[in-house]
Amino acid sequence: MKVLSVAAEIYPLIKTGGLADVAGALPAALAPHDVEMTSFVPGYPSVLQALVNPQELHRFENLSGGPAVLRMGKAKGLDVIVLDAPHLFNRPGNPYLGPDGKDWPDNARRFAVYSETAAELARGSYASYSADILHAHDWQAALACAYLRYRGGPKSLLTIHNIAFQGVFAPETFMSLNLPQEAYSLDGLEFYGNVSYLKGGLDSATALSTVSPTYAQEICTPNYGMGLEGVLQARRTVLSGIVNGIDADVWNPTTDVNLAERFDDKSIDKRRANKRQMEKLFGLEPGDGIIHGVVSRLTWQKGLDIFVSLLDGVVAQGGRVVVLGNGEPNIEQGFRAAALKHPNRIGVTTSYSEPLSHLIQGGADTMLVPSRFEPCGLTQLYGLRYGCVPVVARVGGLADTIIDANDAALAAQVATGLQFSPVDGITLQSALARAAWIYSQPTIWRGIQQRGMASDVSWRRSAQAYSKLYQNILSDRAA
Ligand code: ADP
Ligand code: GLC
Repeated sequence: MKVLSVAAEIYPLIKTGGLADVAGALPAALAPHDVEMTSFVPGYPSVLQALVNPQELHRFENLSGGPAVLRMGKAKGLDVIVLDAPHLFNRPGNPYLGPDGKDWPDNARRFAVYSETAAELARGSYASYSADILHAHDWQAALACAYLRYRGGPKSLLTIHNIAFQGVFAPETFMSLNLPQEAYSLDGLEFYGNVSYLKGGLDSATALSTVSPTYAQEICTPNYGMGLEGVLQARRTVLSGIVNGIDADVWNPTTDVNLAERFDDKSIDKRRANKRQMEKLFGLEPGDGIIHGVVSRLTWQKGLDIFVSLLDGVVAQGGRVVVLGNGEPNIEQGFRAAALKHPNRIGVTTSYSEPLSHLIQGGADTMLVPSRFEPCGLTQLYGLRYGCVPVVARVGGLADTIIDANDAALAAQVATGLQFSPVDGITLQSALARAAWIYSQPTIWRGIQQRGMASDVSWRRSAQAYSKLYQNILSDRAA
């Protein structure tokens, strides 16, 4: 089965968040299921640099304002087809934002052209390539499903990684999309007088999925659907939730070169060396007391503004904190101010660092994820694998992947982390206090770590679920 995966970011070529990790891991995870996955990637500088022995598939004299070439080859182990269109993608740094930190003003055009080209590629319009299924991810790729709906071609799956990002643009945008007028409708791209790329995809794809069963239910409700709950309710029979796995080679504490000391579930004590290294890098006083770790985009979604308001209390209780993350200036500022006030107890780095993210997983005691909503979440899964006990909000994929250390779960020895609900300062504070209390009982804490490390967070089960979904789509059984 040939699947064209269409995602605007893919690890290790270009990444802003979990979408890249998932798009990067799926091809290898699906290979044992006889799925031949090719990833269609925009020609960002980092992607073109990584491309080896490319073969030219097609040349456009003018693709929406400039020449472009489709190049097929290998890039860091991935089978890719790259849309080399310098006028659209030859921009270094973040794929969506300009140097001023704002969305590129031509994002509507960039990702419409990307999606239209993906659809044409899948339906065999260029040279020798065609696909049995087009698998689109998020709004940047969603329109590919609409092009296939109106032009014909293979069946499609649209995966929602985050419904907060919808690709909504002014109504005039529609004129440039080369779609029939009927596509600008209630049952198409029209969204309260604007054009929504995500909605166009949700209405058009053969099947829809999202990245956890709980989030699949949540987005059908007004509290989480962000205005698209009606559309999703109407398509509920073709919507499913498949939890993300993690790349067990990239995230493996027994081989991880970013760690000061590598370890497994029988040598958890070795994590201490990573804690020392982390304390040093973050300027914290050394000690064996609890360190809460954060590796995250700093946005409203992640609930970390709530954590900022609790930091004085955490320090007063003897806790320490390390934060690696960037995003909204007020949250960054909140963490920086707290680090200035408690320099030995709170360390903050507002850069993006893949190596440091691994060290925190290998050295911190908890991985804190107090999200207001979370489609799946990956950092809690990395935490499980690294003995960094997840403390998470009970929403979305966090609810599906962590077993809360309540009395019953502790007695039954099944707990893998801590959950709290609803998401507010009081419940988060008590979850942190509960974590500190359990941490002070080393045998119980060790049990939670060991169970987390032993739990299967690989792609094994989920790859099987995707493969089955593809088969159902091909045989019209997606519902
Ligand atoms: P989201 O995709 O919503 O940001 P996920 O938990 O699914 O959340 O994925 C986040 C990914 O981004 C993880 O791989 C995490 O380690 C990584 N990450 C987030 N912020 C940083 C950062 N500042 N430095 C390095 N990695 C980061
Ligand atoms: C999104 C979500 C996150 C999910 C990731 C990968 O960025 O916010 O919860 O893990 O996509 O699916």
